[in-house]
Amino acid sequence: MQHDVAIGLMRRALTLVETQTPELANAHMRVPLEYYSDPGLAAKEKALFETSPLALIAATEIANPHDYLVRNAVGRSLLLTRDEDGVAHAFLNYCRHRGAEPAKGCGSAKRFSCPYHAWNYDSKGRLISMPLRDRYDGLDLTKLGLVELPSQERHGFIWVVLTPSHPIDVAAHLGSELDAELATLGCANMAYYSSLTEAPLKANWKSVAEGLLEGLHVPHVHPGTFALNPQASAIDLAFYDTFGPHVRYGMPMFGKGDVARLRATPEAEWKPMENIGCVWLIAPGLLLAHELYGVIYADLTPGATVSEAFLRYGWLSPLKEAPDGMPTPSEMAARAAKAVGQDAPVWEGCGRGLSQGEHGYALIGRNEKGVQLFHQQLSDRIGYSGLSYC
Ligand code: FES
Ligand SMILES: [Fe+2]
Repeated sequence: MQHDVAIGLMRRALTLVETQTPELANAHMRVPLEYYSDPGLAAKEKALFETSPLALIAATEIANPHDYLVRNAVGRSLLLTRDEDGVAHAFLNYCRHRGAEPAKGCGSAKRFSCPYHAWNYDSKGRLISMPLRDRYDGLDLTKLGLVELPSQERHGFIWVVLTPSHPIDVAAHLGSELDAELATLGCANMAYYSSLTEAPLKANWKSVAEGLLEGLHVPHVHPGTFALNPQASAIDLAFYDTFGPHVRYGMPMFGKGDVARLRATPEAEWKPMENIGCVWLIAPGLLLAHELYGVIYADLTPGATVSEAFLRYGWLSPLKEAPDGMPTPSEMAARAAKAVGQDAPVWEGCGRGLSQGEHGYALIGRNEKGVQLFHQQLSDRIGYSGLSYC
């Protein structure tokens, strides 16, 4: 983060700790239960996911020419490759013959041979060869490559728009302030660690997003796994900002006992990034967060139905070895997977409660401002007017 921005956040963090009060929303929010289960709204959200740049993988997951990775997003199988010139691509992983999936898993490959009839594609998605080529006389192979999706490599991620021929402009999507902020995270030089197998969660994706935007649940759901700020007496101390549809929230990572010392230190000597933690929810479903010496990188997308979500969740590390006294990158990834394992049953409970409950609306308190901002930004974008306040 830019130093002047971080200093501004540090001033706000000091005020929070001194007053033991978070930055509060103006009122409590009522979110009608239909918001989590209406198929019409889900279709609008899906359209948003299909037309927004999504940071589908860390660039270092396909670091070298001919590296590739297959993943699912919004119900589609996607093949991400790096070609022999080092340029990243994203393709729909569907064979132009009769639709089988030519690639699976991840690794390094110059060719992708479709498992059904062995049509061969290269890392630029071109159809290179097929058995019995002379039987297909008259076919122009140059027109039968894998369908490529718009993609851009920026700030250490491969961003993809899931709609072919749709424009992509990641810098414009982020806006200049957030674009500059992500540039400072250094993710381009971080390796991705994950020990979480990709699995659908039985909950609406917005319900999962809520859990990524507040720390209130941490002492109840993650005891012993991690603590947001061990020195805080109030667990909801946080400051919030929006950048267009994106939300950033942050927390002081110090306690009341540190205030006098920090106030006595000239601002120019503050080390804000050691004293605050920041989380970004980049619309529609990308989560980045500072954590120790690396960055949490999670990607949330809707599943095949309105009551299903996919969460890919891992940890980006700038180092192979941990700094003294800190967990290794693999341990951090294991901890992230454990945390998601703890969240999942609660989120799935919310999935049942919000789809089958008869209580009318979910209630988002004034001290859950991150959740409120998320719902406000999203409902504006999909034209939903049912949020109310009390
Ligand atoms: S479906 Fe791919 S080769 Fe036939
Ligand atoms: Fe959690």
